Amino acid sequence: MSFILALDQGTSSSRSIVFDAGGRIVAMAQQELPQIYPRPGWVEHDPMEIWRTQLATAREALAQARLDARALGAIGITNQRETTVIWERATGRPIHHAIVWQDRRGEPMCARLRDAGHDKLIQSRTGLLVDSYFSATKISWLLENVPGARERARRGELAFGTVDSWLMWQLTEGALHATDVTNASRTMLFDVHRNEWDAELLRLFDVPVELMPQVLPSSARFGETAASLLGAPVLIGGVAGDQQAALFGQACFQAGMAKNTYGTGCFLLMHTGGKFQMSTNGLVTTSAAQRSARPEYALEGSVFVGGAVVQWLRDGLRAIEHSTQVQALAESVPDAGGVMLVPAFTGLGAPYWKPDARGTITGLTRGTTLAHIARAALESIAYQSAALLQAMSRDAVAAGAAPVSELRVDGGACVNDLLMQFQADLLGVPVVRPAVTETTALGAAYLAGLACGVFKSTEELAAMWQPQRRFLPTLDAGRATELMARWEHAVRQASLN
Ligand code: G3P
Repeated sequence: MSFILALDQGTSSSRSIVFDAGGRIVAMAQQELPQIYPRPGWVEHDPMEIWRTQLATAREALAQARLDARALGAIGITNQRETTVIWERATGRPIHHAIVWQDRRGEPMCARLRDAGHDKLIQSRTGLLVDSYFSATKISWLLENVPGARERARRGELAFGTVDSWLMWQLTEGALHATDVTNASRTMLFDVHRNEWDAELLRLFDVPVELMPQVLPSSARFGETAASLLGAPVLIGGVAGDQQAALFGQACFQAGMAKNTYGTGCFLLMHTGGKFQMSTNGLVTTSAAQRSARPEYALEGSVFVGGAVVQWLRDGLRAIEHSTQVQALAESVPDAGGVMLVPAFTGLGAPYWKPDARGTITGLTRGTTLAHIARAALESIAYQSAALLQAMSRDAVAAGAAPVSELRVDGGACVNDLLMQFQADLLGVPVVRPAVTETTALGAAYLAGLACGVFKSTEELAAMWQPQRRFLPTLDAGRATELMARWEHAVRQASLN
């Protein structure tokens, strides 16, 4: 009983990873998840596909590891956050496709709430800025637009869940309707101070409380899977939204510790301990993974276009054939030759919040080549992350804490040494890449392992977490400041579009 199975249900794929008691990967399986785009700005998933692909990968990972479900101490679940599913309690059938976090259909409702001045109340209770990214307006849209849904919700016939809840319902064949605090904190309906659904916000969004799951800490005995699914019942011991799971998987357990995940977008989170801290620099406050009823928090900022800029180089600009070629092309020149590329393809998120900004390239000369543009594209990932970390450090200092002294990194693009070195140079603090970069799944495994006793304490986990490489800043601080000033200038140009 010393293995842990982590289910990692992401936006583009479902993955399952088996870890041993040393936090090492034993087996891994993955399946792509089809994306549904019914209209511009709308993004949906088929909840049955989410479940089918997740279960298939869980079985495949166990088979690869040659393990019986009885060898598992527990299952940990981590998931794309905010994505909203509503289903019938009697049949387990979804009443509509899942509305994905990227979906913008709730924006008119958000604009009305902001105009009516509800944003202050919402931010003080939930830590969030009013935005259609979060689940509340997605739930409202479903209740409004699926015939009979609101009435049925009032009668208690329907259940709402983020993807973790949906998976737990399926895994337990309807015995469990639950979520954890990190996922609840992304709904815009959850009081993160009291760790409970907020009656006033439920009224504001006209969401019947009968729809809502029970909320537990992230490491807890949630329930057991139905025996027939994996061959034996298994405890579900850990649940957390993917970014908070990654923070935990990076062993960032204390205030001031931060991680950045370099995926399609980038997600930067800094633990703030037991202190609810509201950002004055455009970040959101969110619940960090918790092992008890005592609230813990993090500040979060996201970059909309991170690694996606490399896809644009490949598919839009046709500068490279494969994403892996970007490092060689960027390294073929000593620097970006004064070129700045702001990939504001869908506006700019934190800390700028400029929805109308558009992609911009500045500093072109007769000597500019594709290689300079590729290098500037890669560097834009580091500039945007640096702007976020600087905003976080300003918030930390304003609250009387120390600025961030080290950044732990994970996600696909963290394998790019050029990018990581430039990140350290811009930040002036070490950038640390861990030995296991599957930190999202690892975080879920840690939470589940703590619940079932495979892991004893966060101290044990912190000792187990190993750095693979530390990138130390080599750039003169004055030059880094100058580069950031040039970046901010380019951002202002992008905002004029
Ligand atoms: O908030 C959205 C985030 O949780 C999605 O993460 O890795 O599935 O793109 P990912």
